[in-house]
Amino acid sequence: MPLFIIPSLSSYSQLTGYFFFPLFSMETLTLFFFFLLVSFLFFLLRTNYRTRWRLHHLPPGNFGLPFLGETLQLISAYKTENPEPFIDDRVSKYGTVFTTHVFGEPTVFSADLETNQFILQNEGRIFESSYPSSISNLLGKHSLLLTKGGFHKRMHSFTMSFANSSIIRDHLLVDIDRLVRLNLESWADRVLLMEEAKKITFELMVKQLMSFDPCKWTEKLMREYMLLIEGFFAIPLPFFSITYRKAIQARREVVEALNLVIAERRRKGQSEERKNDMLAALLDGDGGAGGFSDEEIVDFLLSMLVAGYETTSTIMSLAVKFLTETPQALAQLKEEHDEIRSRKSEGKALDWKDYKSMPFTQCVINETMRVANIISGVFRRTTADVSIKGYTIPKGWKVFASFRAVHLNHNCFKDARSFNPWRWEKTNSGGTELLNMFTPFGGGPRRCPGSELARVQLCVFLHHLLTQFSWVAAEEDKLVFFPTTRTKHRYPIIVRRRESCTSTPS
Ligand code: HEM
Repeated sequence: MPLFIIPSLSSYSQLTGYFFFPLFSMETLTLFFFFLLVSFLFFLLRTNYRTRWRLHHLPPGNFGLPFLGETLQLISAYKTENPEPFIDDRVSKYGTVFTTHVFGEPTVFSADLETNQFILQNEGRIFESSYPSSISNLLGKHSLLLTKGGFHKRMHSFTMSFANSSIIRDHLLVDIDRLVRLNLESWADRVLLMEEAKKITFELMVKQLMSFDPCKWTEKLMREYMLLIEGFFAIPLPFFSITYRKAIQARREVVEALNLVIAERRRKGQSEERKNDMLAALLDGDGGAGGFSDEEIVDFLLSMLVAGYETTSTIMSLAVKFLTETPQALAQLKEEHDEIRSRKSEGKALDWKDYKSMPFTQCVINETMRVANIISGVFRRTTADVSIKGYTIPKGWKVFASFRAVHLNHNCFKDARSFNPWRWEKTNSGGTELLNMFTPFGGGPRRCPGSELARVQLCVFLHHLLTQFSWVAAEEDKLVFFPTTRTKHRYPIIVRRRESCTSTPS
């Protein structure tokens, strides 16, 4: 529908001639033409979308306002405490697959289990990963999250070989145990759990990637890293956004620091004993196409730090929050860990057998990731016209597979919006029903290569926390879901050391 009544040509020429200027100032005129232009573009856009809707048989939905689409509705919806307001609302209107327009482009959202699985499994065929430019510019083009085709396959399996069960068991577990205990040593009174968890997972990743123990260098790297990550949620225009400018500068600093480490390792070469870390494996190359360039190694290390640090630390602190609010689960978990500790001599590190005897801990971790995973879903782009549920998604469109919408769907998980770790007990005795609907680590060719490593880090952290401390929440702290899942005040807790603490690092 036209927004303005446009005068006929003859009256228009009269207007532009003699009478017009005395009646309207230049500013009013400019404004008038600007609105005219915007409504014309809006009209074109609408017509274009309507035609597409008719021609392509798109999933039902709404494109919202011109240019902005439904972006503002999405952002304001996720600022509430409700975990899935934007999707819930549209699922009830249009069904589990719907069309919207967010962050500058038309996007099809899926809150449907089968569709999500179809999207994940067809990665590299009719879908490819797609991140906003704010993220891709900061990660670098060789980041595993952004690479495609053969290079992605090669790097993904390379990462899997670094973080698989036997490497964790034989090499990584001992450092995870030691660094977690070192961090907990300094805990007293009030602790900002989210900050502490971030510090722990950052130090763990740096150790596993480059063999550095915590020091001034790692502290500086972490500060730059946090600035870099803040840029992910900023407008990717350095001229308009200070946060984004700072993030770009931080990326430069991180790249420079990593380049120095690589140069030092290359220089020492054969003269030093080979380190058992990811960087050593990258410097060796993987036997294919002449190894990796420094630029590739830097982007790769940088993206591994991003992928493995905020994800795991969020689950660490949210697991503690949910346990604090569910005393029965906390008591059962404490029992599981006290039992493990009672079998070990004082200060002895956890081993693989201990890790494998934490069934209820795995239930708590699953339930935390189900209720409040930091990765609520993944964006993809279609590389061909794609048929889904009788609809067609045109080539080049964005698609969002929402894992959280499935995880919080009452038809998939009974009483889905409450924290109930006992629901997972069946899976410990071989039940697969829930696991088939559970995708906290994604799926298909891009499934998280760090899933086992994350689980081990979470188990070790919970073990030492439970066996060394009791705690209470220092204040009420609510969950928020935008731009990332976290608690509003970084979850402060008051900790007290338990009498029977026997866990000093040896
Ligand atoms: C609880 C902790 C974690 C969660 C919930 C998580 C979740 C995910 C998800 C959902 C994806 C798939 C992204 C996509 O399909 O586009 C992913 C990818 C990835 N994750 Fe994790 N992750 C966690 C921890 C880790 C850790 C500790 C590492 C470090 C080794 C890691 C490294 C990666 C990498 C490198 C990718 C990219 C894989 C690719 O694109 O091929 N993640 N993660």
